[in-house]
Amino acid sequence: MTKRLNIALLPGDGIGPEVMAVAEQALTLLIDRFQLPLSCHSFPWPSHAWHQQHGQMMPDDGVDQLRAFDAILLGALGDPGPLDDPDRFVLPDSISLSPLLALRKQLDLWACERPARWQPGAPQYLSDPRANDVDMLVIRENSEGEYSNQGGRLRAGTPHEVATQVEVFTASATERLIRHAFERARQRATQRHRPRQFKNEKASQVCLITKRNAQPFWGDLYTETFLRLAQEYPDVDTHHELVDAACMKFVQCPWRFDVVVASNLHGDILTDLAAVLCGGPGLAPSANLNPADNNIPALFEPVHGSAPDIAGQNLADPRATLLSLAMTLEWLAPHHPALGNAAQHLHDTVTADLAKGNDPTLTNGAQATGTRETGQRLYALLAP
Ligand code: IPM
Ligand code: MN
Repeated sequence: MTKRLNIALLPGDGIGPEVMAVAEQALTLLIDRFQLPLSCHSFPWPSHAWHQQHGQMMPDDGVDQLRAFDAILLGALGDPGPLDDPDRFVLPDSISLSPLLALRKQLDLWACERPARWQPGAPQYLSDPRANDVDMLVIRENSEGEYSNQGGRLRAGTPHEVATQVEVFTASATERLIRHAFERARQRATQRHRPRQFKNEKASQVCLITKRNAQPFWGDLYTETFLRLAQEYPDVDTHHELVDAACMKFVQCPWRFDVVVASNLHGDILTDLAAVLCGGPGLAPSANLNPADNNIPALFEPVHGSAPDIAGQNLADPRATLLSLAMTLEWLAPHHPALGNAAQHLHDTVTADLAKGNDPTLTNGAQATGTRETGQRLYALLAP
């Protein structure tokens, strides 16, 4: 008998509930159309509103409740703050964003995959026509490094204050991350959307990002691990960039990158840049995975944040969340072939609509249609 799967929906804060409403309706239509063995359950936490009522972003057993699901889709977190109401209670980022970091760490979702492929119709901020060939996968370390949350403040508030923020890099986390990058590169060689650019290059490439000229300890650990594992993947090209140079090359020649593997913070920064290369944050999906353990629910989310400046105005682009939902269904596809079909249909529907120049945020100069109207237009195509 087919296993019934459960997806947890976490709308969150800011524009999160608006984009999630579109994703939830799309999912309902897909379940019906493809007869997916799937149910979804929406949670009022983690959120600012939940915090106001209960004094915390989510219940004590929140992570354990979510562990029981097969996948998690998150809208956005981050408290919008007092935009026009000075009396409104504001949560510091360290509290309002903590559930996201807690989920990544406690569920051990150690690989964050952020695909960046430019699609026809998306805004193109670069003038070189080759920028339309951007098709990379940034794999970000998601469990330690600069996000280890070790350190403290000594003599806080005095002129002699000392703040420390310790970065932790372990051999085991480094090895599993880099091995995963090589595996994904090999896999992409069989599914490539666009031909490779240069003569004499192998079918795929992994580019390692470090700052080993200034941060040699983890830089060397990453580099040595990378070179050692590369020997097991003679079919994959290898490349290295320092993170600052990578920023330049992401703008100068982003079509040259294939799989990019980076530390937690470097990956965070590079994926905002990669999102803009593909039209902006409204189109960038992501997955937080534990590739070694299929029983741990993966967490999918748009790369964008809660965008408080446009929250509640029907201006958010729901397509990054829809593409994240497509990644969710794709990830669940080994359970049932209909899930893979639904994922492909959702992805194709979003990109076909994009190709028509529709843009809910006006960034492309086209007619703005709004979050809800974008949803309506896509629902009609998802389930005609
Ligand atoms: C992201 C976000 C988070 C991060 C923030 C909200 C903590 O920027 O998912 O990219 O830095 O990981
Ligand atoms: Mn980020």
